[in-house]
Amino acid sequence: MILGHAHASVIEAIRAAAASGTSYGAPTEIEVLLAEEIIAAFPSVEKVRMVSSGTEATMTAIRLARGFTGRDLAIKFEGCYHGHSDGLLVKAGSGLATFGTPDSAGIPGDVARNTIVLPYNDPASLARVFEEQGDAIACVIVEPVAGNIGCVPPRPEFLNSMRELTLRHGSILIFDEVITGFRVAYGGAQELLGIKPDLTCLGKIIGGGLPAAAVGGRAEIMERLAPLGAVYQAGTLSGNPLAVTAGLATLKLLKELNPYPELERRGANLEKGLRDAAGELGIPSTVNRVGSMLTAFFAEGPVTDWPSAKRSNTDQYARFFRAMLDEGVYLAPSQFECAFVSYAHTDELIEKTIQAANKALQESIHR
Ligand SMILES: Cc1ncc(COP(=O)(O)O)c(C=O)c1O
Repeated sequence: MILGHAHASVIEAIRAAAASGTSYGAPTEIEVLLAEEIIAAFPSVEKVRMVSSGTEATMTAIRLARGFTGRDLAIKFEGCYHGHSDGLLVKAGSGLATFGTPDSAGIPGDVARNTIVLPYNDPASLARVFEEQGDAIACVIVEPVAGNIGCVPPRPEFLNSMRELTLRHGSILIFDEVITGFRVAYGGAQELLGIKPDLTCLGKIIGGGLPAAAVGGRAEIMERLAPLGAVYQAGTLSGNPLAVTAGLATLKLLKELNPYPELERRGANLEKGLRDAAGELGIPSTVNRVGSMLTAFFAEGPVTDWPSAKRSNTDQYARFFRAMLDEGVYLAPSQFECAFVSYAHTDELIEKTIQAANKALQESIHR
């Protein structure tokens, strides 16, 4: 909720849309306007398909990449989360390129076998897999700034080599910007980092707090989607009129307000406050931040991937989380998630949060 909860303009837009109807099972003008706004914000996106959740967006993007390339294998990275579809719930393989084993019960081995899991921020292992089986790889899907390991920024050479290898081998590069889209910059991580993927998945902010998500990208790929193409996707509630209204109202406000410099400043203040608080108490910690996404890992740094994040003291995090709750600050309940600064978090609230963290960290030592 980049503008905070229940922003008056967003609520008013939802109220007005609800008075006209809540679901038509057909596209609406407002859905088209939202798609146009996304296309204007993301130069890599020429066409958009609205869906209802980030899970559907990534699931559709992978199917589209497979349909377009005629290949089966998908590469994902350890610790990245792309929703709960079968083939993407595959997390960890030790070694450089292990074929995945299912991370959740109920996923057939035959499905998981088509997902290759590699370490985040490790261009060498990616290059090796492409060298060995590049012609069988349909796509690479990545959180361009990882949010589900906790906040982990990409090394420039990681994404640059990913773009270069996918182009060379005719594989589709999918940026999962469900978190980062309209968050780290209006045009997402791809604007911030200057890399153009083939397909982009969006969610969260583009629904303004209601269920909307999207997949978009190069027209020649997107046109493979039904009804123009043979890759099927449809959804009764896709592009739901309330959700796209909330999303469009949010994007309009983001354009008007341009909150990004301010979010950067407030995020930097919070980062410094948390780092100083832990430092003064001698608690090992590493604070990673990109714009308004940040994570305080209770681990010696640097935290650059899943193994280094996993070294965190999660008992310490749990004590900190509960002590912060007692102070009235509700953090993400897992060490491996981000805190997000919103435009509603004023300087005063950031300062209060830092004071709460000082107190909570002291208490967490004694709990
Ligand atoms: C990067 C990323 N992709 C995909 C998803 C799945 O989105 P949803 O929960 O809307 O299905 C999430 C959810 O947190 C996410 O963080």
